[in-house]
Amino acid sequence: MAGKKAPTPPKGPRVARTVSALRKTLGADVGKHTDARTVALVPTMGALHAGHLALVKLAKRRADRVVVSIFVNPTQFGPAEDFGRYPRTWDADLKALAGENVDVVWAPTADVMYPQGFATRLAPEGPALAGLEDKFRPHFFGGVATVVAKLFLQCRPDVAIFGQKDYQQLQVVTRLARDLDLPLKVIGAPTWREKDGLALSSRNVYLSAQERAAAPVLHAALSACAQEIRSGKIIAQAVDTARNTISRAGFIIDYVEARHAATLAPIHQQKDGPIRLLVAAKIGTTRLIDNIPV
Ligand code: PAF
Repeated sequence: MAGKKAPTPPKGPRVARTVSALRKTLGADVGKHTDARTVALVPTMGALHAGHLALVKLAKRRADRVVVSIFVNPTQFGPAEDFGRYPRTWDADLKALAGENVDVVWAPTADVMYPQGFATRLAPEGPALAGLEDKFRPHFFGGVATVVAKLFLQCRPDVAIFGQKDYQQLQVVTRLARDLDLPLKVIGAPTWREKDGLALSSRNVYLSAQERAAAPVLHAALSACAQEIRSGKIIAQAVDTARNTISRAGFIIDYVEARHAATLAPIHQQKDGPIRLLVAAKIGTTRLIDNIPV
């Protein structure tokens, strides 16, 4: 009796490490893709978790082929930030992407992305100067905008998928694509959360057991704040309550803010919305961010 055939393991994605290999893989010539099939790009810095894989699943629904970039971008980290210790989990990432049938992994080295003599850096304004992440990470959006513009031009996607967890980043890259007339659609995908509400993040691995237990307070405090605003409480008071709850749980707060969801301008009345609540706070040595709509 013939035995059952073992299931074929998923074929791994192609890995491109140079721009010419990427172009060859995508069938892209100097002008545009020679292949008519659409391309979705999911930019990442690796250390992939279920939230990234949800972006990949969305990408698969939106285009014929999916490119996932994995590049820990040095230019978006400040000198005192965690570039050196940022989690790098290449083998696990590749395995996870094989399971999602990703077509191409774009994994340039720093020398490929920023060759000797590289001398151009974008300086985004508008949402990049909202006084949120930019206030605490002045390097961040210049680095993000520069690398994302390069990723867009290297991969020439029809759509690019970003997580809403980095909400200000999503506004910055949306603006960048629009301002530079880049022919692609930026899509923001909902934040993935643990059962207790903590937003999935590659940096959650830094949390000690005690910090991990405290971390869901960020989402809980924002949710309570949103509820209070919806029931008519003065926005500043509701935000103050959220701030107090978060500090009492052991966080050092960078900001807890109610902002206009599209412009990120400060907002004082519900009628001037839509409102987005955003938080960044440190517990121990780990800085976490989160946001929700009201
Ligand atoms: O959100 C990230 O992982 C990064 O900021 C991005 C968009 C991949 C740019 O390096």
